[in-house]
Amino acid sequence: MEKPHSVVLENVCVSFNGDPSSNVLDRINLTIPAGEFVALVGKSGCGKTTILNLLAGLIEPTQGRISIHGKDAAEGREHVGYMFARDCLFPWRRAQKNVEMPLEARGLPAEERRRRARRELDRVGLGNFADYYPKSLSHGMRQRVAIARTWVLDPDILLMDEPFAALDAQTRLNLERDFLKQWAERESTVIFVTHDLPEAIALADRVIVLGKGKIIYDDKMPFGWPRDPETVLADPRFGQVFAKIRDLLD
Ligand SMILES: Nc1ncnc2c1ncn2[C@@H]1O[C@H](COP(=O)(O)OP(=O)(O)OP(=O)(O)O)[C@@H](O)[C@H]1O
Ligand SMILES: [Mg+2]
Repeated sequence: MEKPHSVVLENVCVSFNGDPSSNVLDRINLTIPAGEFVALVGKSGCGKTTILNLLAGLIEPTQGRISIHGKDAAEGREHVGYMFARDCLFPWRRAQKNVEMPLEARGLPAEERRRRARRELDRVGLGNFADYYPKSLSHGMRQRVAIARTWVLDPDILLMDEPFAALDAQTRLNLERDFLKQWAERESTVIFVTHDLPEAIALADRVIVLGKGKIIYDDKMPFGWPRDPETVLADPRFGQVFAKIRDLLD
């Protein structure tokens, strides 16, 4: 049986000033099957974060319709996890307590919160750092805590806005690898925004390029699974895909 579509955008327009001639998103049509890993790339200001905000139900489209698992975005919100570029941890909460936050918001009992948060910290390799405050963790470790906090609700759809930007190359590669491993275990749909075209190609099933509020490229990547981001970069097909998309971005 065909998997249900997890995300559908139909003719979606967004304008922040009520003027349709200055649409930030202009008649976007997009269907994302459940379990797909989609990377969204494009120049600064082209509307990437706006798409994530729509899917998170934080803003409404000026026109068109968005559905998540067949429901309106506002109703489908419980399925969605959102991770921002900056780690946004609360400095006065220990790592464990940061990861528990979404569970607190759902009113889960303390024991279950502790157990689930602890399991997520273990999965991102920070089981021994549960009692650390964010200021005592490295940038990479803080991003791992933020990832654990996003995964802790087991979202069906994960929205990630440049989660690995501003990390050094090795830390980034480690986080990317671990993230792919987690994704393979969980079968979530991922929509991953990045400025970094090689990262998009190396991580995603499918790369979508936005140019001035319109989709200007949308294609599957040929690399298969399981995959290692570093191996993709060395694949001869990587260069072909990269050159094609870079030309569009220029
Ligand atoms: N709340 C808002 N009010 C007014 N304009 C907004 C608002 N949010 C976004 N915009 C405008 O919409 C456009 C797209 O913004 P968006 O944040 O989606 O871009 P982006 O592709 O994520 O850029 P970046 O790569 O720099 O993060 C920009 O011109 C931005 O100024
Ligand atoms: Mg953005």
